[in-house]
This record gives sequence, structure tokens and C-alpha cells, in this order.
Amino acid sequence: MHKLTTLALTIGFSVAAIAAPRNEPIQPIEPAAITDEAKVELGKQLFFDPRLSKSGFISCNSCHNLSMGGTDNIPTSIGDQWQEGPINSPTVLNSSLNVAQFWDGRAADLQEQAGGPIANPMEMGFTHELAVEVLQSIPQYVDSFNQVYNVKKITINEVTDAIAEFEKTLVTPNSRFDLWLKGDDKALTKTELKGYELFKGIGCTACHNGVNVGGNSFQKMGLYEEYVTKNPAEGVAGLTGNDLDRFKFKVPTLRNVELTYPYFHDGEYWTLEEATDVMARLQLGRTLKKTEIDNIVAFLKTLTGEQPTFTMPILPPSTNATPRPEPFVKK
Ligand code: HEC
Ligand code: HEC
Repeated sequence: MHKLTTLALTIGFSVAAIAAPRNEPIQPIEPAAITDEAKVELGKQLFFDPRLSKSGFISCNSCHNLSMGGTDNIPTSIGDQWQEGPINSPTVLNSSLNVAQFWDGRAADLQEQAGGPIANPMEMGFTHELAVEVLQSIPQYVDSFNQVYNVKKITINEVTDAIAEFEKTLVTPNSRFDLWLKGDDKALTKTELKGYELFKGIGCTACHNGVNVGGNSFQKMGLYEEYVTKNPAEGVAGLTGNDLDRFKFKVPTLRNVELTYPYFHDGEYWTLEEATDVMARLQLGRTLKKTEIDNIVAFLKTLTGEQPTFTMPILPPSTNATPRPEPFVKK
């Protein structure tokens, strides 16, 4: 009897130890709760459909490639007519967990954001009217929108709503760091844990905290030293005209940061070692030793979560009535 009680207690304790969540400035991501599967499926088709662009060649996935951490892995994006974009493309992974969208936060949520790129001459180069006209000319799309939204005539609102619903499913739970946060002591190596303790200890978590390890505040880039860049982006000051907002950017999420190089709004830094060194000097006034940087980078790599997996959407074909794409400038 006594032995059994001890055994039960031992098991009880070890289970409790595994289950006890830690009290840390970063919280784990929970898997997405999908409530409307048909809507998500439609949003997925639209996310991958290049016919929402003038050229018929650029989809959301062109710059937010879900095979590459939801980014394009180039310094600034390439848009319509091979134009050089003004700023680095942030990941769409976990973007539903951000307080607002874009580097300067000018879109309140994912639906508001999704209208932007379609009509942006530097990105998809189209208009909302023409994008809707393309979809309306394709009977399978008309059927899907009718099923999901109970409308006969598609508008841009349903288009952006469906894309946003799909994007909400693009969360990456169960990173090794999250397993550790949930109480699994073995999820991190000693080096990774050292890296996290340093990350927290020197104050990286002042800005990179919460579920998204960032994404929840706007902060000035270059607090202790000025950030030198040729990129003309002004951050929040571009919206407010207030000089105090110059170089204030949304703190990027560090989830999956191993996959989302190159770094910063201008995409000027390719390695996590360099980005960590810049952050420590400019944001915290500290010069880190090489081993300290290596430990932090080891920790940052534990933030890579389970990437979204799904079947590739097969897009319904255009019809004789579908407006033709214009990939090149008309001569
Ligand atoms: C030509 C490349 C390009 C295309 C195409 C594109 N994007 Fe983006 N996306 C960007 C860039 C660059 C930014 C950052 C712009 C800024 O902050 O000023 C961005 C920002 C975003 C953000 C904000 C993420 C965050 O954390 O702030 C989301 C979400 C997003 N795009 C989704 C989409 C969707 C949905 C589509 C398709 C309708 C799309 N994008 C098409 C390049 C692109
Ligand atoms: C005072 C707030 C603040 C502190 C403290 C801070 N960061 Fe940042 N971090 C930011 C901002 C703002 C950006 C975006 C800057 C830009 O793009 O110009 C950023 C960007 C990054 C990026 C690039 C992410 C990407 O996708 O481009 C990494 C990596 C990073 N920080 C790591 C760290 C580390 C490691 C520390 C501690 C040594 C740290 N940060 C401390 C605010 C902060």
C-alpha cells in the first residue's frame, strides 16, 4: 500500500512538472481553431491565385511564400513590372497575433490589410474592380462565394474576408521553445536555455514579448545609436508626420525568425548573428561577446514552430469571358 502511494505520488509529481506552464514574458501559441472550413479553403485559393494581379503572375504567395516561412527571402519585394519594392516583406505566419498590420501599423487587421497589395501599383498593380471582375467570370468561384457568403455578386469585402480567414490558420504552434514554456525541461539544450536567459536578462523581452515574441508594440529603431540605412522608409512618422515617430516600426515577431531572413525593414542583414549584434548595440547599448551572440541565436532558432501544411489548392480555370492578364507594358 505504502509503495503504491509513493508510486502514485511520483507519477503525480512528474505529470504535474510536465504540465505546469512557466511564468515567462513569452507565451506559447495555440493551434488555430477553424470554424468555417469552406471559407478557409476559398481564402487559400485566393491567396494562391495570381489572377488577382494585373500581370496574372503575382499572388500573395509570391511575396509571402508559405514554403519559405511566409516571406520572399529577398531584401525588398519584387512587384508588378519587376519593380523594386520599398520595404522588406514581413511573414504572414502568425500575423493574426500582431496588434496591427504593416511595419507602420497602417492597417488595423488582416482584412483591411488584404485589400492593399491587390491595388498597390508596386505590388499586384491591379484594381479591386478588375480583380472582382476576374473572379466573377469564373463559375466555380461564383459558386464558392455564393455558398460561403450567400451572395451572387462578389465584392472585394468577401475577397479580403476569405483571405483573412485563411491567414488566421497560418499559426505555428509547438516550437521547441513553446514545449519548454509548457513545462518540458528536455525541449531545450543547455546552450539554448542560456541564450534565452540572456535574451531575457539583457532586456530583449522589453520589446519582443507576448505570444508573438513581438508584434504588439511600435518602437524606435536605434535608441542608443542611430540606424544607418539608405532605405527611405520613415516608419510611423510616414503616417503621422510627427518627427518623434521617425523610425518607429512595429516590433517584428521573432517566431520562425530562422526562416524569415534577411532582417529589418530594409532587409539589409542576412544573418541572425548580425541582427542580434545590431539589436544589442542599437536598442540596449550593449556590445555582446561572440559566445553570447551564438547562445542567443541558438535560442532564436527554437522559435521555429510547426509550419502550416495543407493540400495545394487547385484553381478553377479562366473562361472565355475572363479579362486577359497584362504581364508586360503595352507597346
Ligand atoms: C509584391 C510583393 C507582395 C505581394 C504580392 C503581397 N505582399 Fe503582403 N506585404 C509585402 C510587403 C513588402 C509588406 C510590408 C509593407 C509595409 O509594411 O509597408 C507586406 C505586408 C503584408 C502583411 C502584414 C504583416 C505584418 O506583420 O505587418 C500581410 C498580412 C500581408 N502582406 C498579406 C498579403 C496578402 C494577403 C497578399 C495578397 C492579397 C499580399 N500580402 C501580397 C509584399 C507583398
Ligand atoms: C527597444 C525595443 C527593442 C529591443 C530592446 C530589442 N528589439 Fe529587436 N527589434 C525591435 C524593432 C523595432 C525591430 C525592427 C527594426 C527595423 O526593422 O528597422 C526589431 C527587429 C529585430 C530582429 C529582426 C526581425 C526581422 O524579422 O526583421 C531581430 C532578429 C531582433 N529584433 C532580435 C532582438 C534581440 C536578440 C534583442 C536583444 C539583444 C532585441 N531584438 C531587442 C525592437 C527591439
